[in-house]
Amino acid sequence: MKKSIRVFSPASVSNVGPGFDLMGFALNGIGDEIEVSLSNKSGIKITKITGDNGKLPYDTEKNTATVAIKSLLAKHKIKVGLEVKISKKMGIGSGLGSSAASAVAGVAAVNELLELNLTRYQLLEHAIEGEMIASGALHADNIAPCLFGGFVLVRGYNPIDIIQIDYPKNLFCTIVYPQIEIKTCEARKILDKKIDLKNAVAQAGNAAGLITGLLTKDFSLISRSIVDWIAEPKRASLIPCYHEVREAALQNGALNCNITGSGPSMFAFSNSKLRAEAIGIAMKKAASKKRLESKIYISKINDKGPVVLK
Ligand code: HSE
Repeated sequence: MKKSIRVFSPASVSNVGPGFDLMGFALNGIGDEIEVSLSNKSGIKITKITGDNGKLPYDTEKNTATVAIKSLLAKHKIKVGLEVKISKKMGIGSGLGSSAASAVAGVAAVNELLELNLTRYQLLEHAIEGEMIASGALHADNIAPCLFGGFVLVRGYNPIDIIQIDYPKNLFCTIVYPQIEIKTCEARKILDKKIDLKNAVAQAGNAAGLITGLLTKDFSLISRSIVDWIAEPKRASLIPCYHEVREAALQNGALNCNITGSGPSMFAFSNSKLRAEAIGIAMKKAASKKRLESKIYISKINDKGPVVLK
């Protein structure tokens, strides 16, 4: 048995327009790295956190990674001493599933280190526990794509039902990450608890349209279906450059442009790398007009989920 293991787990785009709490996809290149080591001392200890600007808690009851790990160990009645090192390679409160990446990396690393051979469904329930600490609500639209990879539909929560959706292989995603922080728990509080019947109908139509568009590789259908009638109208005001960024993306050939998760990052799909790059330049320029520094990421959908690093 190994004494130590390092796992990378990816950032993710969630909601994807009409899929509030239901849809997400994993990204390449950005995410979290976690190292879990066996220890002689009992219990779990976080020994190092880097890349977080001091924002993340060392308290294992409050850190998403260790909450997820503890939940897994408790369920399977495993008593072991563990040391955890977390290396954030993505922004916190970015809308790109930062807490999900930590929670998934934690349970994936422990599964591998202790050779538990748990299925992704078995890991999912514990990763969700970690996510709940951060967002204060049960939602799996970052956890599931981060853990399963690819484009994921959370068809239902009771019981949880994860469907992996095929998608066009030339689908590119451009992300602008304005350098402000939005806490998911705060961005959920501003949402209406009840929705209009006409908005529910529009949302269901778009959700069905988006899934059909992905499966049939119909870019025009994807483009007109990525519209959110529930969360985005409420959250747009939290992002000072929302309208400018969206307009810039659309003018440069994006299929559409939306908030990812609870923001502030926004994403735009397009059908080529060149177009994705042009959209990125335009989005960044639009954010800077509102005096917001931003980072740009370009990624295809990541099919892998968490990976063990050598
Ligand atoms: N579906 C969640 C929300 C994702 O929009 O609140 C948060 O990252």
